[in-house]
Amino acid sequence: MPPVSTTTTTQTRPNQGQSGSPGLQVVDPTSGSAVPLPASAAGKKGERAGNFIVVPGSDDAQSLTVVDNRTNKIYQIKIENGSVAALDFTKIKTADGPGLRLYDPGFQNTAVAQSRITFIDGDAGILQYRGYDIEDLAEKSNFIEVSYLLIYGELPNKAQYSQFHHEIMHHTFVHLQLAELMKSFNYDAHPMGMFISGMSAMSTFHPEANPALVNNDMYVEDPRVRNKQIFRLLGKSPTLAAYAYRHRIGRPYNQPRNDLSYTANFLYMMDRLSEDEYEPHPVLVKALDILFILHADHELNCSTAAMRHIGSSHVDPYSAVAGASAALYGPLHGGANEAVLRMLEGIGSVANVIPFLEQVKNREKKLMGFGHRVYKNYDPRARIIRRVAYEVFEVCGREPLIEVAIALEKAALADDFFVQRKLYPNVDFYSGLIYKAMGFPTDFFPVLFAIPRVAGWLAHWKEACEDPKGKIWRPRQIYLGEGKRSYVPLDHRSEGRNAADDMEVLQTVQSRQISKRSKVATHKNFRSSL
Ligand SMILES: CC(C)(COP(=O)(O)OP(=O)(O)OC[C@H]1O[C@@H](n2cnc3c(N)ncnc32)[C@H](O)[C@@H]1OP(=O)(O)O)[C@@H](O)C(=O)NCCC(=O)NCCS
Repeated sequence: MPPVSTTTTTQTRPNQGQSGSPGLQVVDPTSGSAVPLPASAAGKKGERAGNFIVVPGSDDAQSLTVVDNRTNKIYQIKIENGSVAALDFTKIKTADGPGLRLYDPGFQNTAVAQSRITFIDGDAGILQYRGYDIEDLAEKSNFIEVSYLLIYGELPNKAQYSQFHHEIMHHTFVHLQLAELMKSFNYDAHPMGMFISGMSAMSTFHPEANPALVNNDMYVEDPRVRNKQIFRLLGKSPTLAAYAYRHRIGRPYNQPRNDLSYTANFLYMMDRLSEDEYEPHPVLVKALDILFILHADHELNCSTAAMRHIGSSHVDPYSAVAGASAALYGPLHGGANEAVLRMLEGIGSVANVIPFLEQVKNREKKLMGFGHRVYKNYDPRARIIRRVAYEVFEVCGREPLIEVAIALEKAALADDFFVQRKLYPNVDFYSGLIYKAMGFPTDFFPVLFAIPRVAGWLAHWKEACEDPKGKIWRPRQIYLGEGKRSYVPLDHRSEGRNAADDMEVLQTVQSRQISKRSKVATHKNFRSSL
């Protein structure tokens, strides 16, 4: 009869028990093979019997049988689409404790959404948008078509394409006051900070898009309202980005031209001064379009997860895109292309590659543009970008740092440290070189990532709005802090060291705006201790 084991096993069990009891048998937890049932265990379902515990078998091969060794209770947990529902674990509890929580810092093995948008096989180095290989799309499609595919699920027919293109190109103008706001940034403001702020400010120019003013569930209920914001966000992102750039270089803003393609219009707004009939170079337009396709989506990366998280509160999509852009800004994510270029400039020449890699292995430096949470193989986007880089060099001249990048890649891929950890070049490794060859300033690189990623963010936002199982995102924590304490008034607290001292919370770095003269000056509020 009964199945038994003191630990969980991944072995498949037959449905028929040894003694003829349907669905019950004894399994050795180490080998996974069936063993005779000890007499002591017979009939004691859910109880320990020596080394064994009797658990019921299940006809459902797509399930887990979990034994809680604290209580000897047995649970059947359903497996669906290769996953188990975290909520099923809440029923696993002791008499006085809460249900079991799943602890997963950094969401390393937690699926927070069911999605049909992008598929990645990180081991095989495969990336597909709605089932289409990224290589195919980069070669044959364009960014507008890919945006449609991501957002609406299918490649558009001619009429759909034409309407979508028209709508986007007729939502490219931004409110004049938003342009004024962009002008109010400091002359050397980081363009990504400007982009994030401009995006956030955009929500204030469209009160009819604000759920707080209209209807809390407007985006869940009305696809037409969703579409309007999709057109606006795709249309206005390049305009906002170009304004951030033009402000930095002190040139007047160009108004969008809706007779140009999406990327040609962007380059026009960036670069035209007063020339009539200004036309960006077609090779650069095409290269940028391919880069936009490659960056359009990457399933639940940090910024897309942020988009879904913020959107789950039903806030307007401008605020959610501002938050997603902020997540993208970080050097571990979209800021990596900027960091790669600074790293390559720091290495300077091929001769310095090996010493630099030694520093990486000694944990003194990080090899930016290498490694990925999902890819444990060559990032397919990096391969395409490397090819496109040479097409750009033909027009704009060779970027000398490419030699450093290639030598770095070759040396890293031959080194055990990187091989063992499956660290390969990611999308950011070569994109910065193309951007540099095209003459974009280094701090503009993350903005060039953000513009196309708006399409992916919107695809996920729309999918989440339409999900009948949609809920506000609210993860749980494992609280390890102090128990209840009584408040101690300031005068009664000890002067000795405490945890806050150890964390050096009150130490600060010097602001770069304090001059040497101010540092040595004295004044009325002078406090030498700080
Ligand atoms: C992308 C990234 C954040 C993924 O992080 P992750 O999934 O948490 O992976 P881990 O940080 O756990 O890395 C696993 C191991 O590889 C090492 N590693 C990962 N990326 C590395 C890099 N770029 N340089 C050197 N070592 C790296 C880690 O130190 C760790 O080593 P250990 O196991 O000996 O401690 C990380 O690879 C990284 O920081 N890369 C550089 C930034 C970058 O290019 N980001 C753009 C991503 S598209």
